[in-house]
Amino acid sequence: MDFGLSGRSALVMGASKGLGFAVAKELAAEGVKIAICARDEARLRGAAERLGATALVGDLRQPGAGRRLVEQAAATLGSVDILVVNTGGPATMPFESISADDWRGAFEGLFMSATDAIGAAIPGMRERNWGRILLVTSIAAKEPINNFTISNALRAGLHGLTKTLSRELAANGITVNALMPGYTMTERLAEAKLDLQKVAGMIPMGRIGQPEEFAALATFLASDRASYITGQAIACDGGALWSI
Ligand SMILES: NC(=O)c1ccc[n+]([C@@H]2O[C@H](COP(=O)([O-])OP(=O)(O)OC[C@H]3O[C@@H](n4cnc5c(N)ncnc54)[C@H](OP(=O)(O)O)[C@@H]3O)[C@@H](O)[C@H]2O)c1
Repeated sequence: MDFGLSGRSALVMGASKGLGFAVAKELAAEGVKIAICARDEARLRGAAERLGATALVGDLRQPGAGRRLVEQAAATLGSVDILVVNTGGPATMPFESISADDWRGAFEGLFMSATDAIGAAIPGMRERNWGRILLVTSIAAKEPINNFTISNALRAGLHGLTKTLSRELAANGITVNALMPGYTMTERLAEAKLDLQKVAGMIPMGRIGQPEEFAALATFLASDRASYITGQAIACDGGALWSI
């Protein structure tokens, strides 16, 4: 299948490792010019070298970081046709352990970085009458997971944003979709200290997902072939979500 992606440009946020890196790699393989961002400069530069991508160091928890990154990526690549909104997951704890500062920091990193980046990317996409905005969220946005309190709350909000934006931008050839990873083998999952055998046992496919499987979904949704799919929240989870 020709995805029609060759020559397009993409900014993949939070992409020095994990899901973001896998998405950037798959898009690069389709001939997309890539810019990636993360905080740890050495790891980011290593990843960018492997991808042949532009490295943009930045902390998405800093106010305005999303907008600055999009502007830098557009200046370097010529445009941002595909924007993949992604960052690290917030701390996991029960509601009563979360301080107001925890909430504010997570809101800045997870939510404001998304609205800032999307706001900066839209004018160029409107001009070109083509754009793909992909928000990496989580299956927790649909079926909240115990202790993932911040993620459960903020990501459900991002789904509301996804649907709203998709309607505002549809007539301009810009699609907006949320991608919900299920349990996928990245450093984030390893650090979560879960009993992965037990987790795998709860997944209908009986195994943890691979980042490349998630990246395949992202690449399809970024492609020309997905031109009539917008406002959706699509899981890549081995069947883990129960809801219809
Ligand atoms: N893996 C899963 O099973 C799973 C399941 C559901 C949802 N998710 C969600 O999907 C997203 C990606 O997960 P992942 O497993 O790929 O995580 P990961 O392996 O921890 O990778 C996160 C990436 O984002 C960057 N990053 C983190 N915080 C950042 C910040 N403040 N500013 C800029 N870059 C930042 C990291 O680099 P630096 O640390 O150097 O900045 C890294 O490149 C997370 O939000 C996670 O919660 C993951």
